Amino acid sequence: MIKGKVALVGSGFVGSSYAYCLLNQGIANELVIIDVNHKKAEGDAMDLNHGLPFAPPMSIYAGTYADCKDADLVVITAGANQAPGETRLDLIEKNSKIFQSIIGEIMKSGFGGLFLVATNPVDVLSYATWKYSGLPPERIIGSGTILDTARFRYMLGEAYNVDSRNVHAYIIGEHGDTELPVYSLADVAGRPVRDLMAQGVGPNEQQLDELFVNVRDAAYHIIERKGATYYGIGMSLARVTKAILRNENSVLTLSTLLTGQYGLEDVYIGVPVIINRYGIREVIELSLSDDEMKKLHQSAKVLKKANQSIPV
Ligand code: LAC
Repeated sequence: MIKGKVALVGSGFVGSSYAYCLLNQGIANELVIIDVNHKKAEGDAMDLNHGLPFAPPMSIYAGTYADCKDADLVVITAGANQAPGETRLDLIEKNSKIFQSIIGEIMKSGFGGLFLVATNPVDVLSYATWKYSGLPPERIIGSGTILDTARFRYMLGEAYNVDSRNVHAYIIGEHGDTELPVYSLADVAGRPVRDLMAQGVGPNEQQLDELFVNVRDAAYHIIERKGATYYGIGMSLARVTKAILRNENSVLTLSTLLTGQYGLEDVYIGVPVIINRYGIREVIELSLSDDEMKKLHQSAKVLKKANQSIPV
């Protein structure tokens, strides 16, 4: 059992999948669920509480923004999600308005912890949360490309027939259409993917390109089939919560404010960071290839433009 209080704002598919993960993995000993539909939050709290005889002890209840006051972490999954055919960036208008009011309410409670943002477009809404909250940037964390990185590791693991936990590879940039794979630094159990390819082991160049496209478009493929994605992101958010509450100093690809790293500034974007109890401790600056650096800059350009449309 990890000690810590989490306030979850938004008990839709993503929020409730996350709550279910927290309970099953014994992450946090207190969870307050807040939703515009208070009855839904109550129903989720009741349903989860009935699993307590089979899980580590935890206090789970439906609450209000006032309950954020002493939370260590506020996790936001509230807002509209992509309809089939919609991009993540199409959601800016709807969701930034929702965020303006949510963040205002949370700050009024006297909240002094960390924010973990998952609502899309996550990079833009993390930037908005930083602006609306007035908190130092290291305390605002976006889920960024953690899930894309997980999908990448899973698909590479399948391609090489190796446990995905032994595959080390990052997806960076926007959590969305302009993200990019860092193939130049990807390795399977310490063996660079580029070397393996040269030796004729595993996928060739074209297959690796196709693999990445499947990673990038995974959400579209899932939405087409079941209308939404939630288990993968729920588990990703639980992983970040664990790294924070256990003060792990773990490296995860999350959305953070860049302040000169990679030659970029004033943009929240997914890159590997070291994360602990106090938030983002450090941005890891990878030695990217020229092509990767160019793509990261293109991705940042798209996000910076999108940031201009958030209401202030
Ligand atoms: C996805 C949503 C979380 O990629 O954007 O599944």
